[in-house]
Amino acid sequence: IKKGIGTSNAKIILIGEHAAVYGEPAIVIPITSIRLTATVVPADDQLIDSRYYTGPIKQAFKNLAGIKALIETILQRLHQPDATFKLTIDSQLPSERGMGSSAATAIAIIRAFYDYFDQPLSRHTLLALAAISEKITHGNPSGMDAATTSATAPIWFVKGQQSHDLPINTSGYLVIADSGFKGQTGPAVATVRERMDDFPQETKVFIRQLGKLAYQARQALANNALQRLGEIMSHAQVILQTLGVSNTTLDHLIFVAQKNGSLGTKLTGGGRGGCLIALAPDEATAQHLITVLKAEGATQTWLQPLAHLQQE
Ligand code: MEV
Repeated sequence: IKKGIGTSNAKIILIGEHAAVYGEPAIVIPITSIRLTATVVPADDQLIDSRYYTGPIKQAFKNLAGIKALIETILQRLHQPDATFKLTIDSQLPSERGMGSSAATAIAIIRAFYDYFDQPLSRHTLLALAAISEKITHGNPSGMDAATTSATAPIWFVKGQQSHDLPINTSGYLVIADSGFKGQTGPAVATVRERMDDFPQETKVFIRQLGKLAYQARQALANNALQRLGEIMSHAQVILQTLGVSNTTLDHLIFVAQKNGSLGTKLTGGGRGGCLIALAPDEATAQHLITVLKAEGATQTWLQPLAHLQQE
């Protein structure tokens, strides 16, 4: 039986959230242990089977508008506008946690259809197609999520520029923990904007410092300077907290991680909820961090060995 398969993975921002809005660089890391798979098989209608909706695509809810438009465009491009199929989406990604769930879905769907119809797919086409559903779902996507959820190496991201792979040579483990609350990117971005309007000089200094930390983190990743990378992450957290985008739950979990062997801990993504990341020097410390963070209320945790992040 004919079958098309496409995969993608989650992402987190190592450093540079919020500063990225003002043109500073960010380092975004694919979390290859959290995967999403899309599968296309023959069927009598255009069907979709996902955790949000199961049934004919044309009857799908409005929240699938982005996916619908994406599939229509893919089929047109492949000269198969009336093809029938069943698309199954199997995702380990939590939604609304800043892990790139919507972009990862788009990436896997595109790959699955190109595989199903046996067509070559360039990276350029992949990202251009993903932008279609991301635009409908997010309004003004930066492209950061699509670039990283389709990659296996970290990305150096600057708004408005083509992102590129970042060579890294690092041991250590990233522990990702869900604070249990939805991230609030919109309000958090608005808070920083208000600060920029009210106190432009000092706010610009903070944003520039975050940019500098991204350059320093890039250096640390290239040189396996884990201790230094941890310090940079914790420094970024102090600035993010000062900018008003952390919250007491995140602050508490970050404090606990620091007390329990993390080399550096910070929120990741928009903040005001969502996830935090902690840097562990070895697997035993990472497992210990997972245990204590869960005991303190983290609802879900993941582990990403940095050594597993390689260029394609
Ligand atoms: C959110 O994932 C990242 C922010 O920097 C916003 C953005 O870059 O659009 C907070």
